[in-house]
Amino acid sequence: MSLRDVDNQFVWHPYTQMSDWRKWSNRVIVKGEGFYLVDSEGRKYLDGIASMWCNVWGHGRNKVVKAMTEQLKNLQHSTLFGLANGPSAQLAEILLGLARGMDKVFYTDNGSTAIEAAMKMALQYWCNKGRRTKREFISLEHGYHGDTIGAMSVGYIENFFGAYKPLLAKVHRAPSPFLYKNRFENESDLVEWCLEKTEKLFRKRADRLAALIMESGAQIAGGAIIYPAGYQKKMAKLCRDYDVLLVLDEIATGFGRLGSMIEYLAQRSQPDIVCFGKALTAGYFPLAVTLTTDRIFNVFLGKYSDNKHLYHGHTFSGNPVGCAAALANIELYEKNNLMQQINANARYIALRLREFAGSPIVADIRHKGLLAGIELARNNKPITILKNKERINYFIMQESLKMGVHLRPIGNIMMVIPPLAIGRRDLEKLLDVQLEILRKVERLS
Ligand SMILES: Cc1ncc(COP(=O)(O)O)c(C=O)c1O
Repeated sequence: MSLRDVDNQFVWHPYTQMSDWRKWSNRVIVKGEGFYLVDSEGRKYLDGIASMWCNVWGHGRNKVVKAMTEQLKNLQHSTLFGLANGPSAQLAEILLGLARGMDKVFYTDNGSTAIEAAMKMALQYWCNKGRRTKREFISLEHGYHGDTIGAMSVGYIENFFGAYKPLLAKVHRAPSPFLYKNRFENESDLVEWCLEKTEKLFRKRADRLAALIMESGAQIAGGAIIYPAGYQKKMAKLCRDYDVLLVLDEIATGFGRLGSMIEYLAQRSQPDIVCFGKALTAGYFPLAVTLTTDRIFNVFLGKYSDNKHLYHGHTFSGNPVGCAAALANIELYEKNNLMQQINANARYIALRLREFAGSPIVADIRHKGLLAGIELARNNKPITILKNKERINYFIMQESLKMGVHLRPIGNIMMVIPPLAIGRRDLEKLLDVQLEILRKVERLS
């Protein structure tokens, strides 16, 4: 059977209403070429969402693939349960050189499980210290941390997770510094208000709070909410003042998305635990990490019979092929001066977003680095269904595919979130197509 004959009706796709699947089902991706994906009919699509926000260098033609292939020849997998492997040891050292202030690396195989590991570390830290009342979490409204049970518990996207509530832990919510949705004139008043509200929660419950968990720099899935200057630093101070651990989620924002390799350093907000994933392996291999400090790690030490060790691990934790990919990827970041390129492209995006700002249906634009969210509304109401009866997000996805670009908006928010090393011409195309689609939505709303 050739790929041309694949019926493709048997896979249950994530975050997809499968009764609509026929609309997409004729697009089976068979290879990647640079920043493009190629389907079984030979049609090419610009990878406009970086294959779910993780792709760095485009597809298939660089040193990361070579490093992975070489590693595959030597050792495909060897467990970290009781044994070390070379690439995971090497990568840990490199990561700790980048993520200043952190001392140990724990490996998982996707972002959600990196968050689970972080949550378990935080809980057990207090437990091992004999402070068993500190067992609650606080997280931000509009936060997203993944789809496993713990990660959903600290996430906030209500209409995603409603059905799973019986499984979810009770978590306290602090406000998100979301200017568009709040009633503040300026960012500094908003920051003060958020901090006051958060501190109120802390004051009431500090002896019961294990950790505060939040995305670092911006909330992406919550709608591209960029933190105002100073907010994250002040949140970190609040955590220190009240002896609540700070867990930062850099799975989507670290490694350059917002213009810095390590976002918490740019935000001057030292965490106790921080997670990376997605771009860590250039988007070529499912690997994630949870980093922590010796202050946390040392509390897990003791006699075996003390039962203080961390009860967490996955079959593929620290897979050497994934670690080899990450090592080669990080080397390329430095060699290619990627952060400089990202920041130049970010300035270009800022210029181009002015063209979007003039639209009567653009209610808000939020942008930092290679992330932008363009919020579409009419008369202050989010646009959901168009005059042709189509859902706005479906319409955008369909239209963009017809125009040779893969896009995935978040509801009524158009997202600009390209591969991190995208070249200027492809970025121009991505924005041109988004602008053309915006004009179509204007006519249909
Ligand atoms: C901020 C953040 N945390 C965690 C995750 C979960 O990562 P994964 O999809 O690899 O489980 C995501 C995924 O989009 C994310 O954006």
